[in-house]
Amino acid sequence: MFEHLPIAPPDSILGLADAFAKDPRPGKINLTVGVYKTEDGATPILATVKKAEVKLLNTENTKGYMPIEGHQEYLRGVVNLVFGSELEHGRVAAAQTPGGTGALRVGADTVAKHFPGTRIWLSNPTWANHGSIFQAAGLETNVYSYLSSDKTSLDFSAMIQDLETNGRRGDLVCLHACCHNPTGIDPTLAQWEQIAELLAQKGMIPFVDFAYQGFGDGLEEDAKPLHTLLKKNSEAIVCSSFSKNFGLYSERVGAVMLVSTEASKTEAALSQIRQAIRCNYSNPPRHGASTVATILSDPTLHSEWVSEVNAMRDRISQMRNMFIDGMKKTGIDRDFSFLASQKGMFSYSGLNNMQADWLKNERAIYIVGTGRINVAGMAPQTMDTLCNAIADCLRATR
Ligand code: LMR
Repeated sequence: MFEHLPIAPPDSILGLADAFAKDPRPGKINLTVGVYKTEDGATPILATVKKAEVKLLNTENTKGYMPIEGHQEYLRGVVNLVFGSELEHGRVAAAQTPGGTGALRVGADTVAKHFPGTRIWLSNPTWANHGSIFQAAGLETNVYSYLSSDKTSLDFSAMIQDLETNGRRGDLVCLHACCHNPTGIDPTLAQWEQIAELLAQKGMIPFVDFAYQGFGDGLEEDAKPLHTLLKKNSEAIVCSSFSKNFGLYSERVGAVMLVSTEASKTEAALSQIRQAIRCNYSNPPRHGASTVATILSDPTLHSEWVSEVNAMRDRISQMRNMFIDGMKKTGIDRDFSFLASQKGMFSYSGLNNMQADWLKNERAIYIVGTGRINVAGMAPQTMDTLCNAIADCLRATR
């Protein structure tokens, strides 16, 4: 039987990271997968994570199974971080999941099982894995406009028009809470208010992917779009990831949170989420969630962690500005200043698939084929090499 299995294509993001690892050329630059790097190219373990792990090593006394919905103290910390005082926490059915991907899948599985035929609207473009996750769960995926035709800004009126015209009561709308992946282009708060209003009017439900809290404007600031949605919409699904803001990529730490109209509905929601988890991975892993819980519940570690997140955000923003200046210095006639208003790890460079291939083949510079660049992978000492390569690429592929 298995001899008939065809070879699947490599993943459009992680596949490039594999190809990068195998590339023997010296001076190669990896701007593919969304992983934070220091100037020296390292993806460090945060100091607060190390401290929490030492604490855990000394105090942890079991590796017994976790409850199906996960680590209770972690979940309290996460709900607090995500919703603050905006919402009665009793309305949130929260479960720990293996990363943000696990959260998206568990949320989608729960909806698909009980509301078969549900449709979900995805921004065009969106994270390359969204479509596969939602389709695998059995949701019908559709797209709404997001980028302007020159790919440098949000086409807000087209976005609203698509949702207004095509959306139906009970449809889910996948929204990136901040730091839109892959474009780095977010709606303004005033635009979020309009989105919130439209969804409420149409009876569509926000399905919010919150993978970059703290990488846009700050941990609290980045939650404002979500809070704006919740002021007008009494139901939502929120999927958080702590891969980036705790640097816990390989520990797979995330959470799915289903917001119900009232607290009396939460028990039923949680029971259904538990079922979705039980037949998937049974119960979640302990270590990453224990680490996050230790940091969030200790005031000193918590404030140290906030500083660490702020430092990562500041470095990325410096690199984005340095890149814009570097491109100007090359004398190329393409203006990259539109990148300045983009937020988070990624920038949409406007480069196409063929140009991404040119950069890889000619200069050992890896970016995603859509033109997405992981700004967090840039460093001052390689900036000139990068900018000159992109300028040469633009000249060669005109
Ligand atoms: C990315 O978009 O690069 C990250 O979210 C990592 C991934 O799994 O794709």
